[in-house]
Amino acid sequence: MISYKKELELLIKVGRLRERKVYSDDLLDLASNDYLGLASNKKLFKQAYKRVLKHNNHSPKASILVNGYSNIHKKFEQKLCKINGFEAGVVVGSGFLANISLIESLVRKKDILFIDEQYHASGILASKLVQGSVITFKHNDYNDLEKLIIEHKEENSRIIIAIEGVYSMYGDIAPKEFNDVANKYDTLLIVDEAHSSGVIGQNLLGWYDYWGIKPQYNHIKMGTLGKAYGSYGAYILGSKQIISFLENRAKPIIYSTAPSLFDIALAFENLKYIMKNKKYIAKKISKYQNIIQKYLDISCDALIVPIEINDNKKVLKIQNNLIKEGFLVGAIRQPTVQKAILRVIIKLDIRKSDLKKITNLLKL
Ligand SMILES: Cc1ncc(COP(=O)(O)O)c(C=O)c1O
Repeated sequence: MISYKKELELLIKVGRLRERKVYSDDLLDLASNDYLGLASNKKLFKQAYKRVLKHNNHSPKASILVNGYSNIHKKFEQKLCKINGFEAGVVVGSGFLANISLIESLVRKKDILFIDEQYHASGILASKLVQGSVITFKHNDYNDLEKLIIEHKEENSRIIIAIEGVYSMYGDIAPKEFNDVANKYDTLLIVDEAHSSGVIGQNLLGWYDYWGIKPQYNHIKMGTLGKAYGSYGAYILGSKQIISFLENRAKPIIYSTAPSLFDIALAFENLKYIMKNKKYIAKKISKYQNIIQKYLDISCDALIVPIEINDNKKVLKIQNNLIKEGFLVGAIRQPTVQKAILRVIIKLDIRKSDLKKITNLLKL
Protein backbone atom coordinates (compact mmCIF):
# COMPACT_ATOMS: atom_id res chain seq x y z
CA MET A 1 0.00 0.00 0.00
CA ILE A 2 1.31 3.43 -0.89
CA SER A 3 1.97 5.36 2.32
CA TYR A 4 3.36 8.70 3.53
CA LYS A 5 3.41 7.58 7.17
CA LYS A 6 7.21 7.76 7.56
CA GLU A 7 7.43 11.29 6.18
CA LEU A 8 4.58 12.46 8.42
CA GLU A 9 6.16 10.82 11.46
CA LEU A 10 9.40 12.59 10.73
CA LEU A 11 7.59 15.94 10.52
CA ILE A 12 6.03 15.27 13.92
CA LYS A 13 9.41 14.34 15.39
CA VAL A 14 11.07 17.60 14.33
CA GLY A 15 8.08 19.77 15.23
CA ARG A 16 7.27 20.66 11.64
CA LEU A 17 3.88 19.05 11.16
CA ARG A 18 1.38 21.61 9.87
CA GLU A 19 -2.32 21.39 10.64
CA ARG A 20 -5.12 23.74 9.71
CA LYS A 21 -7.47 24.82 12.49
CA VAL A 22 -10.59 26.89 12.86
CA TYR A 23 -9.78 29.40 15.57
CA SER A 24 -12.41 30.90 17.82
CA ASP A 25 -13.73 34.36 16.91
CA ASP A 26 -13.25 35.22 20.58
CA LEU A 27 -9.49 35.32 20.12
CA LEU A 28 -7.94 38.67 19.31
CA ASP A 29 -6.42 38.23 15.85
CA LEU A 30 -2.78 39.27 15.61
CA ALA A 31 -1.90 36.49 13.19
CA SER A 32 -3.60 37.34 9.90
CA ASN A 33 -2.54 39.68 7.10
CA ASP A 34 -5.74 41.71 7.38
CA TYR A 35 -3.55 44.70 8.23
CA LEU A 36 -6.22 47.37 8.18
CA GLY A 37 -9.01 45.25 9.66
CA LEU A 38 -11.14 45.50 6.51
CA ALA A 39 -11.87 41.75 6.38
CA SER A 40 -14.74 42.21 8.82
CA ASN A 41 -16.04 45.60 7.64
CA LYS A 42 -19.69 44.80 6.83
CA LYS A 43 -20.47 48.24 5.38
CA LEU A 44 -17.88 47.82 2.63
CA PHE A 45 -19.00 44.22 2.14
CA LYS A 46 -22.59 45.40 1.52
CA GLN A 47 -21.43 48.05 -0.96
CA ALA A 48 -19.54 45.41 -2.92
CA TYR A 49 -22.51 43.04 -2.79
CA LYS A 50 -24.78 45.74 -4.23
CA ARG A 51 -22.37 46.37 -7.09
CA VAL A 52 -22.21 42.70 -8.02
CA LEU A 53 -25.98 42.33 -7.69
CA LYS A 54 -26.45 44.96 -10.41
CA HIS A 55 -24.35 42.86 -12.74
CA ASN A 56 -25.99 40.27 -14.97
CA ASN A 57 -23.72 37.43 -13.92
CA HIS A 58 -22.14 37.19 -10.47
CA SER A 59 -19.67 34.42 -11.34
CA PRO A 60 -16.86 34.99 -13.81
CA LYS A 61 -17.78 31.96 -15.96
CA ALA A 62 -14.58 31.76 -18.02
CA SER A 63 -10.97 32.92 -18.37
CA ILE A 64 -10.48 36.65 -18.91
CA LEU A 65 -9.29 35.78 -22.41
CA VAL A 66 -12.52 34.01 -23.33
CA ASN A 67 -15.44 36.03 -21.95
CA GLY A 68 -14.80 36.02 -18.21
CA TYR A 69 -13.52 39.61 -18.29
CA SER A 70 -16.11 42.08 -17.02
CA ASN A 71 -16.45 45.78 -16.30
CA ILE A 72 -15.90 45.00 -12.62
CA HIS A 73 -12.41 43.68 -13.45
CA LYS A 74 -11.72 46.43 -15.97
CA LYS A 75 -12.70 49.34 -13.72
CA PHE A 76 -10.62 47.97 -10.87
CA GLU A 77 -7.57 47.62 -13.14
CA GLN A 78 -8.08 51.18 -14.40
CA LYS A 79 -8.33 52.52 -10.86
CA LEU A 80 -5.15 50.68 -9.82
CA CYS A 81 -3.26 52.04 -12.86
CA LYS A 82 -4.41 55.57 -12.20
CA ILE A 83 -3.51 55.73 -8.52
CA ASN A 84 -0.22 53.84 -8.90
CA GLY A 85 0.87 55.63 -12.06
CA PHE A 86 1.22 52.54 -14.27
CA GLU A 87 0.24 52.27 -17.94
CA ALA A 88 -1.60 48.97 -17.78
CA GLY A 89 -2.74 46.24 -15.42
CA VAL A 90 -4.37 42.85 -15.20
CA VAL A 91 -6.22 41.09 -12.39
CA VAL A 92 -5.10 37.57 -11.47
CA GLY A 93 -6.73 34.85 -9.33
CA SER A 94 -4.24 35.06 -6.45
CA GLY A 95 -0.81 36.36 -5.55
CA PHE A 96 0.55 32.84 -5.86
CA LEU A 97 -0.72 32.66 -9.45
CA ALA A 98 0.51 36.20 -10.16
CA ASN A 99 4.08 35.22 -9.23
CA ILE A 100 3.85 32.07 -11.34
CA SER A 101 2.49 34.21 -14.21
CA LEU A 102 5.25 36.78 -14.03
CA ILE A 103 8.28 34.63 -13.47
CA GLU A 104 7.40 31.64 -15.60
CA SER A 105 6.44 33.75 -18.61
CA LEU A 106 8.89 36.67 -18.51
CA VAL A 107 12.11 34.70 -18.01
CA ARG A 108 12.61 33.23 -21.50
CA LYS A 109 15.44 31.07 -22.80
CA LYS A 110 18.77 33.00 -22.52
CA ASP A 111 17.26 35.40 -19.93
CA ILE A 112 18.51 35.62 -16.36
CA LEU A 113 16.36 35.95 -13.25
CA PHE A 114 17.98 37.40 -10.13
CA ILE A 115 15.75 36.67 -7.18
CA ASP A 116 16.09 37.56 -3.47
CA GLU A 117 16.80 34.46 -1.38
CA GLN A 118 13.81 35.32 0.84
CA TYR A 119 11.33 35.79 -2.03
CA HIS A 120 7.93 34.18 -1.48
CA ALA A 121 7.55 30.42 -2.08
CA SER A 122 5.38 31.08 -5.16
CA GLY A 123 8.24 32.94 -6.87
CA ILE A 124 10.77 30.31 -5.87
CA LEU A 125 8.49 27.59 -7.25
CA ALA A 126 8.04 29.58 -10.48
CA SER A 127 11.80 30.01 -10.79
CA LYS A 128 12.07 26.20 -11.06
CA LEU A 129 9.84 26.28 -14.13
CA VAL A 130 11.75 28.82 -16.21
CA GLN A 131 13.80 28.11 -19.30
CA GLY A 132 16.40 30.78 -18.55
CA SER A 133 18.96 30.96 -15.73
CA VAL A 134 18.07 31.66 -12.12
CA ILE A 135 20.44 33.26 -9.61
CA THR A 136 19.55 34.04 -6.01
CA PHE A 137 21.18 36.95 -4.24
CA LYS A 138 21.63 37.59 -0.52
CA HIS A 139 18.54 38.94 1.16
CA ASN A 140 18.05 42.69 0.57
CA ASP A 141 21.69 43.00 -0.55
CA TYR A 142 21.81 45.18 -3.66
CA ASN A 143 25.64 45.08 -3.67
CA ASP A 144 25.55 41.29 -3.93
CA LEU A 145 22.97 41.64 -6.71
CA GLU A 146 25.14 44.07 -8.66
CA LYS A 147 28.21 41.86 -8.26
CA LEU A 148 26.26 38.88 -9.58
CA ILE A 149 24.84 40.86 -12.50
CA ILE A 150 28.35 41.94 -13.54
CA GLU A 151 29.52 38.33 -13.25
CA HIS A 152 26.68 36.74 -15.21
CA LYS A 153 25.22 39.24 -17.67
CA GLU A 154 25.47 38.36 -21.32
CA GLU A 155 24.73 40.23 -24.48
CA ASN A 156 21.20 39.73 -25.84
CA SER A 157 19.88 38.30 -22.63
CA ARG A 158 17.24 40.11 -20.62
CA ILE A 159 17.77 40.53 -16.90
CA ILE A 160 14.81 40.31 -14.53
CA ILE A 161 15.13 41.20 -10.84
CA ALA A 162 12.51 39.99 -8.33
CA ILE A 163 12.16 41.51 -4.86
CA GLU A 164 9.42 42.07 -2.29
CA GLY A 165 8.45 45.56 -1.14
CA VAL A 166 8.01 44.45 2.47
CA TYR A 167 9.20 40.94 3.30
CA SER A 168 6.42 38.78 4.60
CA MET A 169 8.11 37.20 7.61
CA TYR A 170 10.36 39.90 9.08
CA GLY A 171 8.56 42.96 7.70
CA ASP A 172 11.74 44.62 6.38
CA ILE A 173 11.62 46.93 3.35
CA ALA A 174 13.71 46.44 0.19
CA PRO A 175 16.17 49.35 -0.16
CA LYS A 176 15.66 51.96 -2.88
CA GLU A 177 19.04 51.04 -4.40
CA PHE A 178 17.42 48.03 -6.10
CA ASN A 179 15.80 50.53 -8.41
CA ASP A 180 19.18 52.17 -9.12
CA VAL A 181 20.69 48.78 -10.01
CA ALA A 182 17.69 47.94 -12.24
CA ASN A 183 18.06 51.25 -14.09
CA LYS A 184 21.85 51.02 -14.38
CA TYR A 185 21.73 47.58 -16.03
CA ASP A 186 18.45 48.16 -17.88
CA THR A 187 16.66 45.27 -16.22
CA LEU A 188 13.04 44.56 -15.44
CA LEU A 189 12.20 45.01 -11.77
CA ILE A 190 9.39 42.90 -10.31
CA VAL A 191 8.23 44.09 -6.90
CA ASP A 192 5.90 41.79 -4.97
CA GLU A 193 3.85 44.26 -2.94
CA ALA A 194 1.76 41.70 -1.05
CA HIS A 195 2.73 43.20 2.32
CA SER A 196 3.49 46.78 1.29
CA SER A 197 0.39 47.96 -0.63
CA GLY A 198 -1.98 49.64 1.79
CA VAL A 199 0.69 49.80 4.52
CA ILE A 200 3.70 51.90 3.47
CA GLY A 201 4.24 55.00 1.34
CA GLN A 202 2.96 58.55 1.45
CA ASN A 203 -0.24 57.45 -0.25
CA LEU A 204 -0.20 53.95 1.29
CA LEU A 205 0.43 52.50 -2.17
CA GLY A 206 3.50 50.46 -1.27
CA TRP A 207 7.16 50.27 -2.22
CA TYR A 208 7.32 52.54 -5.27
CA ASP A 209 5.31 55.13 -3.37
CA TYR A 210 7.45 54.77 -0.22
CA TRP A 211 10.65 55.54 -2.14
CA GLY A 212 9.05 58.15 -4.38
CA ILE A 213 9.82 56.13 -7.53
CA LYS A 214 7.75 57.11 -10.55
CA PRO A 215 6.89 53.91 -12.42
CA GLN A 216 8.42 53.57 -15.88
CA TYR A 217 8.65 50.93 -18.62
CA ASN A 218 10.92 48.51 -16.69
CA HIS A 219 8.85 48.49 -13.48
CA ILE A 220 6.36 45.80 -12.54
CA LYS A 221 4.19 45.85 -9.46
CA MET A 222 2.43 42.73 -8.22
CA GLY A 223 -0.10 43.26 -5.46
CA THR A 224 -2.42 40.92 -3.61
CA LEU A 225 -5.98 41.57 -2.46
CA GLY A 226 -5.99 39.11 0.44
CA LYS A 227 -4.00 41.27 2.82
CA ALA A 228 -4.44 45.04 3.45
CA TYR A 229 -7.07 45.16 0.69
CA GLY A 230 -9.29 42.83 2.72
CA SER A 231 -10.46 40.53 -0.09
CA TYR A 232 -8.92 37.76 -2.24
CA GLY A 233 -7.05 37.83 -5.56
CA ALA A 234 -4.19 39.80 -7.07
CA TYR A 235 -3.15 42.23 -9.79
CA ILE A 236 -0.12 42.98 -11.92
CA LEU A 237 0.72 46.50 -13.10
CA GLY A 238 3.32 47.33 -15.75
CA SER A 239 3.86 48.82 -19.19
CA LYS A 240 1.29 48.11 -21.94
CA GLN A 241 3.84 45.83 -23.58
CA ILE A 242 4.45 43.76 -20.45
CA ILE A 243 0.74 43.36 -19.74
CA SER A 244 0.06 42.39 -23.34
CA PHE A 245 2.88 39.84 -23.15
CA LEU A 246 1.39 38.35 -19.99
CA GLU A 247 -2.03 38.10 -21.68
CA ASN A 248 -0.33 36.08 -24.37
CA ARG A 249 2.09 33.97 -22.40
CA ALA A 250 1.17 33.71 -18.71
CA LYS A 251 -0.58 30.39 -18.27
CA PRO A 252 -2.46 31.19 -15.01
CA ILE A 253 -3.96 34.22 -16.76
CA ILE A 254 -4.88 32.43 -19.98
CA TYR A 255 -5.95 29.03 -18.67
CA SER A 256 -7.64 29.85 -15.38
CA THR A 257 -11.13 31.20 -14.67
CA ALA A 258 -11.20 34.99 -14.23
CA PRO A 259 -10.96 36.28 -10.64
CA SER A 260 -14.17 36.22 -8.60
CA LEU A 261 -16.37 39.24 -9.39
CA PHE A 262 -17.35 39.68 -5.76
CA ASP A 263 -13.75 39.58 -4.53
CA ILE A 264 -12.72 42.22 -7.07
CA ALA A 265 -15.73 44.40 -6.25
CA LEU A 266 -14.88 44.10 -2.55
CA ALA A 267 -11.24 45.00 -3.14
CA PHE A 268 -12.44 48.00 -5.18
CA GLU A 269 -14.65 49.26 -2.33
CA ASN A 270 -11.85 48.66 0.18
CA LEU A 271 -9.32 50.44 -2.02
CA LYS A 272 -11.59 53.48 -2.34
CA TYR A 273 -12.00 53.47 1.45
CA ILE A 274 -8.21 53.31 1.96
CA MET A 275 -7.62 56.17 -0.48
CA LYS A 276 -10.28 58.31 1.16
CA ASN A 277 -8.97 57.68 4.67
CA LYS A 278 -5.26 57.43 3.92
CA LYS A 279 -4.18 60.23 6.29
CA TYR A 280 -6.07 58.72 9.21
CA ILE A 281 -4.79 55.20 8.42
CA ALA A 282 -1.17 56.35 8.03
CA LYS A 283 -1.34 58.19 11.34
CA LYS A 284 -2.69 55.11 13.11
CA ILE A 285 0.00 52.89 11.55
CA SER A 286 2.66 55.23 12.85
CA LYS A 287 1.05 55.32 16.30
CA TYR A 288 1.00 51.50 16.49
CA GLN A 289 4.61 51.27 15.32
CA ASN A 290 5.55 53.69 18.11
CA ILE A 291 3.81 51.53 20.72
CA ILE A 292 5.84 48.51 19.57
CA GLN A 293 9.03 50.55 19.66
CA LYS A 294 8.26 51.88 23.13
CA TYR A 295 7.14 48.65 24.80
CA LEU A 296 9.10 45.98 22.93
CA ASP A 297 12.03 48.02 21.64
CA ILE A 298 11.42 46.70 18.14
CA SER A 299 11.38 49.13 15.27
CA CYS A 300 9.05 47.99 12.53
CA ASP A 301 8.80 49.49 9.04
CA ALA A 302 5.42 47.92 8.30
CA LEU A 303 2.88 46.12 10.51
CA ILE A 304 4.78 42.87 10.98
CA VAL A 305 6.57 42.29 14.30
CA PRO A 306 8.91 39.27 14.23
CA ILE A 307 10.06 37.85 17.55
CA GLU A 308 12.82 35.28 17.28
CA ILE A 309 12.30 32.09 19.31
CA ASN A 310 14.61 29.80 17.41
CA ASP A 311 12.92 26.54 18.40
CA ASN A 312 10.07 24.91 16.46
CA LYS A 313 8.46 23.28 19.48
CA LYS A 314 8.92 26.23 21.82
CA VAL A 315 7.28 28.63 19.39
CA LEU A 316 4.14 26.48 19.34
CA LYS A 317 4.12 26.32 23.12
CA ILE A 318 4.32 30.10 23.41
CA GLN A 319 1.57 30.45 20.81
CA ASN A 320 -0.65 28.12 22.86
CA ASN A 321 0.02 30.03 26.06
CA LEU A 322 -0.97 33.28 24.32
CA ILE A 323 -4.15 31.61 23.04
CA LYS A 324 -5.05 30.84 26.66
CA GLU A 325 -4.75 34.58 27.34
CA GLY A 326 -7.07 35.31 24.38
CA PHE A 327 -4.47 36.38 21.78
CA LEU A 328 -3.72 34.63 18.50
CA VAL A 329 -0.28 35.26 16.99
CA GLY A 330 1.52 33.45 14.17
CA ALA A 331 3.99 30.68 15.04
CA ILE A 332 6.24 30.41 12.00
CA ARG A 333 8.61 27.49 11.94
CA GLN A 334 11.35 26.06 9.78
CA PRO A 335 11.43 25.60 6.84
CA THR A 336 9.24 28.69 6.23
CA VAL A 337 11.86 30.70 8.13
CA GLN A 338 15.43 29.78 9.06
CA LYS A 339 14.79 30.21 12.79
CA ALA A 340 11.33 29.89 14.34
CA ILE A 341 9.59 33.20 15.05
CA LEU A 342 6.40 34.54 16.55
CA ARG A 343 4.92 36.70 13.80
CA VAL A 344 2.75 39.34 15.39
CA ILE A 345 0.61 41.53 13.17
CA ILE A 346 -0.37 44.85 14.67
CA LYS A 347 -3.70 45.13 12.87
CA LEU A 348 -5.35 48.51 12.96
CA ASP A 349 -8.66 47.18 14.28
CA ILE A 350 -6.98 46.16 17.54
CA ARG A 351 -7.64 48.53 20.42
CA LYS A 352 -4.65 50.43 21.80
CA SER A 353 -5.24 48.94 25.27
CA ASP A 354 -5.16 45.39 23.82
CA LEU A 355 -1.99 46.19 21.92
CA LYS A 356 -0.33 47.27 25.14
CA LYS A 357 -1.56 44.10 26.86
CA ILE A 358 -0.01 41.86 24.22
CA THR A 359 3.29 43.73 24.34
CA ASN A 360 3.44 42.87 28.05
CA LEU A 361 2.83 39.20 27.33
CA LEU A 362 5.45 39.24 24.59
CA LYS A 363 8.25 40.32 26.91
CA LEU A 364 9.43 36.74 27.04
C1 LIG B 1 5.05 37.99 -0.46
C2 LIG B 1 3.89 37.19 -0.92
N1 LIG B 1 3.68 37.03 -2.24
C3 LIG B 1 2.65 36.31 -2.70
C4 LIG B 1 1.76 35.71 -1.84
C5 LIG B 1 0.62 34.90 -2.39
O1 LIG B 1 -0.53 35.65 -2.40
P1 LIG B 1 -1.97 34.97 -2.32
O2 LIG B 1 -2.20 34.65 -0.90
O3 LIG B 1 -2.89 36.01 -2.87
O4 LIG B 1 -1.91 33.75 -3.18
C6 LIG B 1 1.91 35.87 -0.47
C7 LIG B 1 0.93 35.24 0.44
O5 LIG B 1 1.06 34.90 1.52
C8 LIG B 1 3.01 36.61 0.01
O6 LIG B 1 3.23 36.75 1.32
